[in-house]
Amino acid sequence: MKAEEAKLRIDELSRQLRQHNHNYYVLSSPVISDYEFDMLLEELIRLETEYPQFSDPNSPAKRIGGVITKDFPTVTHKTPMLSLSNTYSEEEIIAFGQRIRKDLDKDPDYVCELKYDGVAISITYEQGNFIRAVTRGDGTQGDDVTANIRTIRSIPLLLHGDHPQELEIRGEIFLPHKGFEKINREREEAGEPLFANPRNSASGSVKMQDSSEVAKRPLDCIFYSIHGKNLPFDSHYENLMEAKKWGFKISEYIIKTKDQQQIFNFIHEMEGARPELPFDIDGVVIKVNDFLQQQDLGFTAKSPRWAIAYKFMAEQATTRLLSVSYQVGRTGAVTPVANLEPVPLAGTIVKRASLHNADIITKLDLHDGDLLQVEKGGDIIPKITGVVKKDRKADAGPIHFIDECPDCGTKLLKHEDEAAHFCPNDAACPPQIKGRIEHFISRRAMDIDSLGEGKVEILYENGIIRSVADLYTIKYNDILGLEKVYPAEDDKKERKVSFKDKTTENIINGIRASLKVPFERVLFALGIRHVGETVAKILARHFKSIDAVASANMEALIDIHEIGEKIARSVVDYFSNPETRELINLLKEAGLQMNIPENESTIPQLLDGKTFVVSGTFDDHSRDEIKEMIEHYGGKSTTSLSAKTNYLLAGANAGPSKLEKAEKSGIEILDLPQFLELLK
Ligand code: IVH
Repeated sequence: MKAEEAKLRIDELSRQLRQHNHNYYVLSSPVISDYEFDMLLEELIRLETEYPQFSDPNSPAKRIGGVITKDFPTVTHKTPMLSLSNTYSEEEIIAFGQRIRKDLDKDPDYVCELKYDGVAISITYEQGNFIRAVTRGDGTQGDDVTANIRTIRSIPLLLHGDHPQELEIRGEIFLPHKGFEKINREREEAGEPLFANPRNSASGSVKMQDSSEVAKRPLDCIFYSIHGKNLPFDSHYENLMEAKKWGFKISEYIIKTKDQQQIFNFIHEMEGARPELPFDIDGVVIKVNDFLQQQDLGFTAKSPRWAIAYKFMAEQATTRLLSVSYQVGRTGAVTPVANLEPVPLAGTIVKRASLHNADIITKLDLHDGDLLQVEKGGDIIPKITGVVKKDRKADAGPIHFIDECPDCGTKLLKHEDEAAHFCPNDAACPPQIKGRIEHFISRRAMDIDSLGEGKVEILYENGIIRSVADLYTIKYNDILGLEKVYPAEDDKKERKVSFKDKTTENIINGIRASLKVPFERVLFALGIRHVGETVAKILARHFKSIDAVASANMEALIDIHEIGEKIARSVVDYFSNPETRELINLLKEAGLQMNIPENESTIPQLLDGKTFVVSGTFDDHSRDEIKEMIEHYGGKSTTSLSAKTNYLLAGANAGPSKLEKAEKSGIEILDLPQFLELLK
């Protein structure tokens, strides 16, 4: 094929694919099969690879991602991305209308739309081309996440129709329920932690470093506001309707009205429709339609006076208690779980809810077969909020918390100052051992990702590992050929996990690679109670070696700025156990990093005990680099100002509210040269 021919074909394929994308993702009415679509896309990718001179950043071939971003550049919004004032009360909606009538001297047109529960995004188009996508950030500045957002199929990369030459459009990125469940199913199978709700998974996705991973997530985007100089109308609703013609996805659930009753009808209708919607909403937004009227009404410090969000209460359902089961975690804590008659709630089917501890069971006065009220708020994790007592049968017996560990039969204990019962048999109780190993290999600890959850279980059940030290003596032939079939459960299919050649090799390599994991993460991986990532880092930097941590007494520990009595007690208890000492010796022999290397420990900890908040941008350093520098010299960096903050390090465009607060509370404000002076 000649170059000109290739160019023509690339243009034609791009045009067709754009149209098919729009049909499928925006209009939900595809006209060709997925297979036909994939064939066209493959051809385009092939041609663009062969003729890179004709490849365009906004080509439909770029939807599959591939760009890696380490640090997302900070971008200042042309107009700040404000938030909405919220209310749960209809009276306040009436008051909102009265205030507006008073200010404008008449009733304006209002637009009612859904309040999507996702992450806000601002996208700039120039001459109809997708140019840049920026997160809301602190409202003034956000992160440039262009490469990731380009992969979202319902966002047009090239506009059609009579669109303005320069345009900023804002909307909400979200994960529909189906997509959310799919991702969590995949994560569960891979032994990765589950997302708590669709919003968390959407915001996590937007900030991923590898855009081809984002492309695999079925994200969607609905737009709700348009900004720019040459917009076709001076009103919100009319512009949104035009934007639909340019290729944007605009909500079907939107009305324009002057009538307050219609506003309430819309609110009630949407509250009723909420359980059936395929995505999460948390309320309805009411906006004044006309731009001039919006201008007249103006803004408060944080939100426009021309809009308000009516938020829905958490969704509720009632269902019956089938039984209570008990789960033992890696620290031995026993959590009661209510097994429920399956009930649809906020887009998913609820079958279980945590009862947290014995006190909650007592407080609910839970009885066999009780009819329960279940609620789901911001979190996808359901909560039992009450019992319908009048429904209870006369002979229903109360639920008693168990006395013995459901896994190993040991008598449970309870510390007076803690709510949870625990199984003290930490040395031999299977879920505790497996839990500790799973924690040890997890991503933020030793990061042995070739050993997902199901695999630890197989190694444990075959007697190959009894403690994390055993991982380091595993030989290829010990584990090759092991397998287990996990039966189908809930909506998960039956699956077989087997240790074939490649898997086994990956596991052995993964374990070997973990010998390089730095000391602070090894300390975290041990799973000492109350020693999370941050505390592990503090202990590692302070004591510099495992021997020094192990021989520290209460006093020496409490002397450290961030360490309190509870953590200190837990560390001392942990290391006074002879089994711990044995484990540490084995891990040392295996070659794990048990101290901070000499050259690192000589860095003067000039910022020890000092807490910084970094705001704004700096010429030669990214904010992350500066934060690293702070930690490197022993300081701490946090995101918001508090009584513990010592310095606000302010760059260009530092948050005005931060500057104001720092001044008011007498927190020293530094510029970059002053900060560097501290390090001399
Ligand atoms: S309008 C100042 N419309 O809610 C105008 N926002 O609290 C603010 N949101 O960050 C934006 N659905 O992420 C608007 N239909 C909608 C919305 C909406 C969800 C989010 C948005 C914003 C937050 C404001």
